[in-house]
Amino acid sequence: MKTVLTRSGTEAAGFIKLGGIVAFPTETVYGLGANVFDETAIAKIFAAKGRPSDNPLIAHVSSVDQIELLTREVPPLAQKLIDSFFPGPLTVVLHKSDTVPLIATAGLDTIGLRMPRLSLAQAFLVECNAPLVAPSANLSGRPSPTTWQAVEEDLDGRVDCILQSDATEIGLESTVVDCTSATPLVLRKGAVSFESLRAVVPQISSIDVDGSDTPRSPGMKHRHYSPRADVVLLSDAADSSATNDDAFIGLHPIISSARISRICGSTEEYAASLFEFFRECDRAGVKTIYCETVEDMGIGPALMDRLRRASES
Ligand code: TXA
Ligand code: MG
Repeated sequence: MKTVLTRSGTEAAGFIKLGGIVAFPTETVYGLGANVFDETAIAKIFAAKGRPSDNPLIAHVSSVDQIELLTREVPPLAQKLIDSFFPGPLTVVLHKSDTVPLIATAGLDTIGLRMPRLSLAQAFLVECNAPLVAPSANLSGRPSPTTWQAVEEDLDGRVDCILQSDATEIGLESTVVDCTSATPLVLRKGAVSFESLRAVVPQISSIDVDGSDTPRSPGMKHRHYSPRADVVLLSDAADSSATNDDAFIGLHPIISSARISRICGSTEEYAASLFEFFRECDRAGVKTIYCETVEDMGIGPALMDRLRRASES
C-alpha cells in the first residue's frame, strides 16, 4: 500500500473512517491508530507491526466523556487519577465494556485508557469521531518512534497514513497503572512519576518488573526498546572500555572518544533523545552504545527502566 504523509488531522482521520490505520503524534511517542470498534482495522495494526497477538492495545480518547463507551465502571481511585492526570502521559487499566472487541485487548477483560494532551492528537481524535486503539508506531521490538521519519523508516508501505508533526515532547511511553483491583498498581514507568501518583492516591504500589513477579502487563515480557547495537550502562569513565567506533549518550562527557556522542542538558532532554539516538546509531552501524545511568528522580526511573531493558536484550 502507498503511505500518505500529511499534516492535516482531518485528512488523516479520513483514513480511519474508511477502516484504515494511521500513525499519529502524541506527547509521549507516535502511535499507530485504528477505530477501537473496528476489528478488521485492529487486525491490520498487529500485522503492520508484527506485534504478538497476546499484547493488548491502549485506547485513546478525545474527551473524558468517551471513557464510558469503553468501560463498565470507573472505580473512585481510577477517577481520581483521571481527574488529576488526563489529558497527559498516563494510561489507566479498567474493566472493559462488552462493546470493545477482544482483539483490541488481546483477549483480556480489561482495557488501557489514555487521553493524549498534544493538541494535534486531540484534534485528530475529535475528527475520528471514535476512540482509537494505538500501540507505539514502530515495528515490534524496535525503539518507539519519536519522529514521523522514524515511523516512516519502520512502517512505510505498511500503514495508510502518517500524520506528521514535530519530534515528541517526552519521548518515552506513558505510565501505565492497573486500576482493576483495590490497590492501583504501576505496570510501566513513565513521565507521570510514582511520587506524583502517590500524592493523589497514597495507597498506590508498583511492581518490580525486573524481579520475580510475573509480568501483569503482557507487553513487559516482550523484547522492547532495543537498538540492534549492544547497550552498556555506565556511571563513570572507569567502567568503560569504549573504542572510537562506539557511541555515547548521557549527561556528562564521560567518554570522549565516541564516534557518535550526545551530551544532554537535562534528564528530560536525555529521555526525549534516547530512542532517536538508538535509531541514529543503528543507521550508522554502531556496535556498542554506552549510556550513562541517571538518578531516581522525576523521569529518571522511567528512563532507567528503558535503558535496562535495552541493555538486557
Ligand atoms: O505513550 C504511550 O502509551 C504510547 C502512545 C502511542 O500512547 N503507546 C504505547 O503503546 O506505548 P504500546 O502498545 O506500545 O504499549 C502498551 C503497554 C504494553 O506494555 C501493554 O502490554 C500494556 O501497555 N497494556 C495495554 N493494555 C493493557 C491491559 N489491559 N492490561 C495490562 N497492560 C496493558
Ligand atoms: Mg510499544
